[in-house]
Amino acid sequence: MTVKIAPSILSADFAALGQEVKSIDKAGCDYIHVDVMDGHFVPNLTMGPCVVKSLRKCSDKIFDVHLMMTNPDDFIEAFAAAGADIITVHAEAVWHLDRTLSRIRELGKKAGVSLNPSTSENALEYVLDKLDLILVMSVNPGFGGQKFLPSQLDKISRIKKMIGSRNIDLEVDGGITPETAPLCIKAGANVLVAGSAVFSSKDYAATIKALRGNG
Ligand code: DX5
Ligand code: ZN
Repeated sequence: MTVKIAPSILSADFAALGQEVKSIDKAGCDYIHVDVMDGHFVPNLTMGPCVVKSLRKCSDKIFDVHLMMTNPDDFIEAFAAAGADIITVHAEAVWHLDRTLSRIRELGKKAGVSLNPSTSENALEYVLDKLDLILVMSVNPGFGGQKFLPSQLDKISRIKKMIGSRNIDLEVDGGITPETAPLCIKAGANVLVAGSAVFSSKDYAATIKALRGNG
């Protein structure tokens, strides 16, 4: 299984965001992970659809947009139009998850669900056939640079079993380093988000390779 690496631009230099996206593209990343925070669902504010639209010109890689916001339904169309490829909402933030996932797919985008560390994988049970990606938060969302929560490894293994033969990405986000990455891969993850590990390193390509496990 090839492990995909999704650098989170939350930890990039915001004054040079376009260049940073070009750099991770060149360094061999698979997805470009965009953390959208609204100051309500999480205690931080980041970027909106217009940033995604501008960055779209900098890379043809998959834009993996992680919506950490209440009422994400209000913004799904805008992010789809801006060029997101995968749109992930939080199970804790929507009233009608089944409807929201259908809407994302109707717009021609891949649909993802994210779970906070305290949320059970049971939340996925009845929407598995509407999912393209499951994002397990291995920190409480809101900030980069936090410590990985090992309690999530068991959840990753359980979700891997639930997925079975379905074609669903199992992504882990938060505290991913060359030390924690192998634990997630062993538990069944195939996409790793890494913010500070990539952007605080001198050599993005070497870090991406190390996170994949063949560096
Ligand atoms: C946290 C975000 C993550 C974060 C990861 O709320 O969803 O994507 O940027 O950052 P690191 O890799 O530094 O934990
Ligand atoms: Zn994220």
